[in-house]
Order: sequence, then structure tokens, then C-alpha cells
Amino acid sequence: MARKNDRYITGLDIGTHKVCAIIAEAMDDRRLNVVGAAHTESKGVRKGVVINLDATVESIKRVIEQAELMAGVEVQQASVSIAGTHIKSVNSRGVIAVSARNRVIEKEDIRRVIDAAKAVSIPPDRQILHVLAQEYVVDDQEGIGDPSGMSGARLEANVHVVTASSTSTQNTISCLHRAGLEVESTVLAQLAAAEACVTQDEKDLGVAVVDIGSGTVDIAIFEKGSLWHTAVLPIGGEHFTNDVAVALRTGVTEAERVKKKHGCALVSLVPEEDMIEVQSVGTKKARIMGRQLLAEVLQARTEEVCQLVLAEIRKSGFDQSLNGGIVLTGGGSMLEGMVEIGEQIFDLPVRLGTPSGITGLVDVVSSPAHATAVGLVLRSHRARLGEGRLLQEMRGTGTFGKLTGRLKDMFSGLF
Ligand SMILES: Nc1ncnc2c1ncn2[C@@H]1O[C@H](COP(=O)(O)OP(=O)(O)OP(=O)(O)O)[C@@H](O)[C@H]1O
Ligand SMILES: [Mg+2]
Repeated sequence: MARKNDRYITGLDIGTHKVCAIIAEAMDDRRLNVVGAAHTESKGVRKGVVINLDATVESIKRVIEQAELMAGVEVQQASVSIAGTHIKSVNSRGVIAVSARNRVIEKEDIRRVIDAAKAVSIPPDRQILHVLAQEYVVDDQEGIGDPSGMSGARLEANVHVVTASSTSTQNTISCLHRAGLEVESTVLAQLAAAEACVTQDEKDLGVAVVDIGSGTVDIAIFEKGSLWHTAVLPIGGEHFTNDVAVALRTGVTEAERVKKKHGCALVSLVPEEDMIEVQSVGTKKARIMGRQLLAEVLQARTEEVCQLVLAEIRKSGFDQSLNGGIVLTGGGSMLEGMVEIGEQIFDLPVRLGTPSGITGLVDVVSSPAHATAVGLVLRSHRARLGEGRLLQEMRGTGTFGKLTGRLKDMFSGLF
């Protein structure tokens, strides 16, 4: 493990199904080169939340070790995903008077207006995960992306505030510490996934990112380039597997195999004569059955999931403004026919979101299941370069309390 260098960025996605680590090298030409990647079964997580610290620490150690070996680098810190139904978010607004005599807006004014906007009442058992600027208003001029340097008397900021249960977040952070890692940043899982598989054009037009994981479906809705709505639904790929296990009278492991190998979410895509082999519970004896039977089970569940997502989008009030359509990602989106059903139900263009924006070991991390982990490294890279919209994250709270001085300065500034 020779190389030890600030050029390397690590993303750690702690999912319900798998724990995944990606190490990337930041190149001089701003490219992000993936040099190591590994994933392992996740044993201590339920519906995106760590419920068994020991098991999770073991999984983290294993993937980091494998990724380190591949990359030939020692990992000391990682950006980690935060997920689960405890995530809540609100849109908020803050207003301040511009302080300078000449009325030119400075970084300090932006910091103050963000502070004012994030002053929402948060129960003591919750903490702020992100404060994401949506747009600024200078005097009466709306829709400003970056007001620094502009002149005005009154500065207003609209922000999206994402909060999470303090205990859940702290448990995740503890797992990293116990695995010998420092936490570079804690990032909402679907925000990371969106970073990896949605274009800026789509975010400008209005897009919903739907990450179908194993335990949860995570939704993020962007419009005018910013995040406006986030939601987590307690349903995911494991429900599909359980349905298959019950319907085909087989075990969960075999149901998972059959689902991945032969599954299809749309019965009409499956030729009537297609047959599959399914092992019975407790015996090695295989049964032959029609693949359409499997598709019937999966179609019903896919329709249910899409209807739940549609209800959430309607509830958010953004159903009429998703001109960029829907991007499905996460391992669950890889089920054949998912996009077709999505198009029928959402009545919008639907595409599969595979990670992009990286070079190097692209083939290893190109599946939708890797979107969150890839997004974590992309986001950290952007933060280190000091790019992005204004954001203050958890200044002085748990995560950043553990950061080294240099990184702390970087993150408490602009993102
Ligand atoms: N080819 C496939 N067809 C159908 N389902 C698949 C396929 N590949 C993976 N899955 C399903 O995707 C799910 C895992 O997705 P993913 O790796 O995104 O989950 P996770 O991030 O660990 O979980 P979560 O985000 O819910 O915490 C599993 O339920 C798995 O069965
Ligand atoms: Mg996930």
C-alpha cells in the first residue's frame, strides 16, 4: 500500500443489498479516473439504515481492503451515503439586508442569507444533512444562480434543507471510524446517484431521479437546475424477490437468482414458450415453469412501485414540470421492462440512469447499482475543486468535527 495522496477520492455507498467502495484519482486535467472498486454483501443494513454496527464495519473493511488492493492506494477517508425513511426535507427561504455600504453582495452576505434560510425548526433528534441553494433574489430580480458581486439592497435565498435522524447518521459515521476511516462528507444517497447519472440539461428542464434499491426507493426532483423535493419510499428490490419466492414456492436466494437471470417486468415482452428452471425449497430438484408466470409476479410489483412513485411526484406538485422525464437507477431498475412500464405509468420519457463522468475502470462501475458510489466521488471531486452552488453543510457538527483542518475549510465554504 505505497501511495498515500490527496489526489485520491473514495466513495462508500452503504446500501441494504451491498456495500460498495470506489477509489478515484483526480487528474490534472480535471478528469476523475476510477482506479479501484469493490462491493460486498451488506449484512447490517435494513431499509438503508445501519442496524448492526459490527456486521457493517466488517463489510466496510472488506470492500475498502479490496478496493485498496486494486488501486494500490491506502484509503484514509471516504464520502459516505446516508439513506432511509428517516430522511425529511423542506424548502425554506431567508432574507437579509446587504451589509456593504456600496451594496455589492459579498461571500459573507451569501453565508448570512443561507444561515437565515436554514433556520428552520429541527427537532433535537435530527440534524441537517444538506442546505442546497435553489435560487437567489436580489431586490426584485428572481432566478439568480450566484449573486456574488451583484449590487442590491435586499438578498433573498431559497434553499432545500435535507435533515436526517441524528442517531442513524451517527451510526453510519461510527461504522466508518471503527473501520479506520475519516468521514469526508455525508451525502444523501439519491443526491449522489443524481450526480452520477443525470445531466445538467435534465436538471434544468425538470427531472425526477428514482433510485430503486433493495430496501428503499429514493426520489429526488430537480427543476431549474436545483433540488426541490426528496422522498424515500420503504419498498424496493427485496419485495420483488419475496414475491417471486412466494409465487414460485422457492427460497429467497433462488428467487433472487431467478429474478436477476430471467426476470421481466412486462409479460407482453416474454414469449409464451419461454421456460425457466426453478429449484424447490429444501431439495435440489428443479421444476420447469413458464417465464411468463415469473413476469406476471414482477409486473404487478413494478406497477405498484411506479404508482407509489407517481403518487409521491404528484404530492410534490412537480408532476406537470418534469420536461426532462424520469431517470430510473439503482440495482432494481435493471429489471427488463422496467423502463417500458415506467413510461406507461408516468406518461413521460423514462430512461435508465447509468453512471457517467468518470474514466478509468468504467466497465467495473458502469451499472445503475453503482450510481450512488460513483456520485459520491464525483461530488467530493467537485467540492475539492470548489465548484458548485452555494451550500453549507453541517458546519461544526458531527461529520465536520472529524475533518482535518484543510478539508474543513474547504467544506465550510462553498459547494
Ligand atoms: N438484473 C436485475 N434484475 C432485477 N433486479 C436486480 C437486478 N440486479 C440487481 N437487482 C436488484 O437490485 C437490488 C439491489 O439494488 P442496489 O444495489 O441499488 O441496492 P442497495 O443500494 O444496496 O439498496 P438500498 O439503496 O435500498 O439501500 C436488489 O434487490 C437486486 O435484486
Ligand atoms: Mg442504494
